[in-house]
Amino acid sequence: MMYSFKLAIIFILITVAYSENCTDGKDILEHHLSTKTPYRLVANKEDIEIKNEAIKGCLPHKIWMVIRHGTRNPSAAFIEKMNDRLPEIRTLILENNPEPTEFLRQSDLYAFEKWKSKLQTTDEKKLTHEGEDEMLELAERMQARFPNILRPVYSNTSYYFKYTATHRTKASAKFFASGLFGRHIVKDVWFPKPVKNDPTLRFYKLCPRWQSEVKNNPDTFFERKKFEESDHMLTIINSVNNALNLDDELDLDDIYLMYLTCAFETAWNKKTKSPWCSVFSMETVRGLEFAEDLKYYYRDGYGYEVTYKQACKMLSDVISYFENKSEYPKAIAYFTHSGTLLKLLAHLGLYKDDEHLKHTHYGSNSHKWRVSKIDAFGSNIALVLYKCQSKYKVTVLHQENVMKLPNGEEFTDFSKFKKLYKDSVNECLFDEICSVQ
Ligand SMILES: *[C@@H]1O[C@H](CO)[C@@H](O)[C@H](O)[C@H]1NC(C)=O
Ligand SMILES: *[C@@H]1O[C@H](CO)[C@@H](O)[C@H](O)[C@H]1NC(C)=O
Ligand SMILES: *[C@@H]1O[C@H](CO)[C@@H](O)[C@H](O)[C@H]1NC(C)=O
Repeated sequence: MMYSFKLAIIFILITVAYSENCTDGKDILEHHLSTKTPYRLVANKEDIEIKNEAIKGCLPHKIWMVIRHGTRNPSAAFIEKMNDRLPEIRTLILENNPEPTEFLRQSDLYAFEKWKSKLQTTDEKKLTHEGEDEMLELAERMQARFPNILRPVYSNTSYYFKYTATHRTKASAKFFASGLFGRHIVKDVWFPKPVKNDPTLRFYKLCPRWQSEVKNNPDTFFERKKFEESDHMLTIINSVNNALNLDDELDLDDIYLMYLTCAFETAWNKKTKSPWCSVFSMETVRGLEFAEDLKYYYRDGYGYEVTYKQACKMLSDVISYFENKSEYPKAIAYFTHSGTLLKLLAHLGLYKDDEHLKHTHYGSNSHKWRVSKIDAFGSNIALVLYKCQSKYKVTVLHQENVMKLPNGEEFTDFSKFKKLYKDSVNECLFDEICSVQ
């Protein structure tokens, strides 16, 4: 009797311990950190499952990947704000909250007291330790899934890696290669000399029409601006000030600074919680995340045709690679940036909402274009070509999940795939798409 009672207690304790960790299906703040979300929060670490009978007679033949660099440091301008403004805000918080409150626990106050910015402007945008792990582990998982194409022995003919002319993509490429071949081999891996404004990896840098009509056009940010001027945002600003016992000392810029610091520090540290996260409720992070979704939807997503049309550059690259009769290279991996990944996702027709995202859609949060999910650090798109008895088939992976293509298929004949995207192959008239009218 006593024995089973003890067992019951142990069982309850285990259940409690387990459910505490189990965040599946539970909405947590870490899932709303927009483009500064660490990859570990969105990665599929399980097997890749293609639910199609036809897979049985097929073998992976080639793989083509586009990878956003891993978790990095902020820009120099942001580091300056972290170093100048955040200590002022910290002082305000501590002065106005001498005792723990409903919103700030003792441990939060203590964490604020101890908080220091550890970065200098010269550290800007460098790949961080977390970013190194993201690339190592991504490579290891992909290799475990595709052992016949991602062999552990490096060969210059089997692999083609390329990165843009930045520190963070170069470091990402090296750590990815480390994950495949081991860290002692990386020094032997050949990387082509990076080019400024690479026409494939960073095509949009060479697209004057996108630069002038979208990126540098204030209209692009109209919906975001409307949202920032809405009552929702006013409520967010007031509620953050209230929670910190402040009147209106913090404006929207301060709140973005705190939100992004919360995101960066969450990405950098797996184990410790950033005090800057403790000031936000779920409602506030959802609002700030939504503002980011609006920005990226119009700048890098479905907002304007020219934005995603120009990504035909990437699709025609992978199609000619798959069409090439040569078996080599077995794998191509490009290390690049958020702007490339998002435009390619939109070009492929993924995460497409039925109507354009508007500031008035806030609240339902049912939209698909959510940058916390689709544009985390280390985000990646992989196209895998399978060789079957009489034909080739293709699957598209995003964040290591099998994607359903606009034709409804997850595992599609290569010929159907080319038909599906025929405009981008036959009509990839980049200079025409990109010329300023
Ligand atoms: C819960 O999380 C803790 C710390 O992160 C870890 O040590 C423990 O193994 C986890 N428990 C389960 C059941 O996942
Ligand atoms: C690898 O191949 C490229 C051409 O694809 C060549 O330029 C380069 O020198 C080769 N590197 C090594 C180490 O063989
Ligand atoms: C096919 O691939 C090989 C090996 O990378 C390359 O040398 C050749 O130029 C490619 N052919 C075409 C038509 O792109």
